[in-house]
This record gives sequence, structure tokens and C-alpha cells, in this order.
Amino acid sequence: MASKSKILIIGGTGYIGKFIVEASAKAGNPTFVLVRESTLSSASRAKVVQNFKNLGVNFIIGDLYNHESLVQAMKQVEVVISTIARHQLADQDKIISAIKEAGNIKRFFPSEFGTDVDRGHAVEPAKAAFARKAKIRRAVEAEGIPYTYVSSNLFAGIYLANLSQVGATAAAPPTDKVIILGDGNPKGKKTEDFSLRISLQTC
Ligand SMILES: NC(=O)c1ccc[n+]([C@@H]2O[C@H](COP(=O)([O-])OP(=O)(O)OC[C@H]3O[C@@H](n4cnc5c(N)ncnc54)[C@H](OP(=O)(O)O)[C@@H]3O)[C@@H](O)[C@H]2O)c1
Repeated sequence: MASKSKILIIGGTGYIGKFIVEASAKAGNPTFVLVRESTLSSASRAKVVQNFKNLGVNFIIGDLYNHESLVQAMKQVEVVISTIARHQLADQDKIISAIKEAGNIKRFFPSEFGTDVDRGHAVEPAKAAFARKAKIRRAVEAEGIPYTYVSSNLFAGIYLANLSQVGATAAAPPTDKVIILGDGNPKGKKTEDFSLRISLQTC
């Protein structure tokens, strides 16, 4: 039987990342998570960190903005999954550089986990984020790095409670105003897209 791949998750303590770290560990993959020192001692991350410890996850101290720490982390694994946040998507060029230098990574999953950015017709503010994800896709392909893009549509846990009202964080839809995206004419997503439909593009 083939041995399980060693997997590094960058951004593993985040909203999406924590589920991926847990699933990887429970699937029996040797699982590594790159964390900053400050994350390990953060009260807000204590529960997630403890869960990872219970699951036997390996912590590697590092930082997206510390090239050497990325390269050293990658030398310990075969697969890299990024779950870096939306506002740091462009900075994944640092992960690409480290993958190239490490030279041993067999597959990279960039931070996607949303709409297929090569096929959507988004309006702002999603449009700019999609463009950043597409740019990272093109950089991965240009470097010849084997990749998988995970398009999982919208997560109900984030968007259903506020009916996709951008910036609204309340647990219920705002009742005082409604944000119209674009000029109001773009076709919206149907509620069935709040599902677990996942597509993978792999090379
Ligand atoms: N389809 C959907 O409905 C949906 C919804 C949400 C997100 N997404 C997508 O999922 C992806 C992840 O988003 P998210 O909301 O899960 O992100 P998030 O919760 O903000 O998590 C970001 C992670 O990056 C880590 N991080 C931040 N700066 C770092 C640094 N300098 N070095 C190393 N790690 C660093 C954070 O660590 P700390 O623990 O220290 O903060 C955290 O673990 C994005 O591509 C986003 O577009 C999709």
C-alpha cells in the first residue's frame, strides 16, 4: 500500500484551514501546520491549537513573509496546501518561490475554496479577489508546479446567515438596508450553490 503523503498547511489555524488540518490528520496523513509563534500563544486560537495537538499535528514555526522558514518547512513534506486569507492571496507568490527553491513538492493547492475564478463573472468586491486567485493560478502554471484547484462554491456558514450582504457580520440578515452588487443586473447565485458541490482542477 502506498504510504500517505506528508502535508503542510499554511494558514491552518484559520476559518477554512482548521477543517483541512483536521481532515488531513484524521485521514492518517502526517500533517504539518506552519504557524507563527504568536499564533501558538494566542488565546483566540487556543482551542484550535489544542485540537491539533490532540490529533498529533506537527507544528512548524514560520511565517509567510520569512522565505527561509517556508523553504525549511517544505523540505519536510510532499504536499503544500495554502489556506491563506483573502487579503493575502497575492502574497502566495512567496509560497511559489519557496516551492521552487525547496524542489521536492509534488503538489500545491493554492488558497481557493470558492467559486471557479476562471469561469465566473463576478462583480466587486468579489471580482478583485477572483483576479488575485487567477493571477496565482497563472504563476503556479508558469512555474510548472503540479497543482490542484479546489472550487467549493460558497460556505453557508459564512454567507447564508447574512444572505451574502458584504461586510455584514451579524448572525441574521440586516433588516435596515440591502447592498445591491454591481448595477443590480448581474445574475445571482441560486441557493443550491450553498451546497457541498466541489470541483477539482488538477495538473
Ligand atoms: N467559499 C467561501 O464561502 C469562503 C469563505 C471564506 C473563505 N474562503 C476562502 O478560503 C481561503 C481561506 O480564507 P479564511 O477565511 O479561512 O482565512 P482566515 O480565517 O483569515 O485564515 C488565515 C490564516 O492565515 C494565517 N496567517 C496570517 N498571516 C500569516 C503569516 N504571515 N504567516 C503564516 N500564516 C499566516 C492565519 O493565522 P492566525 O491563526 O495567526 O490568524 C490563519 O491561520 C481564502 O482563499 C478565502 O477566499 C472561501
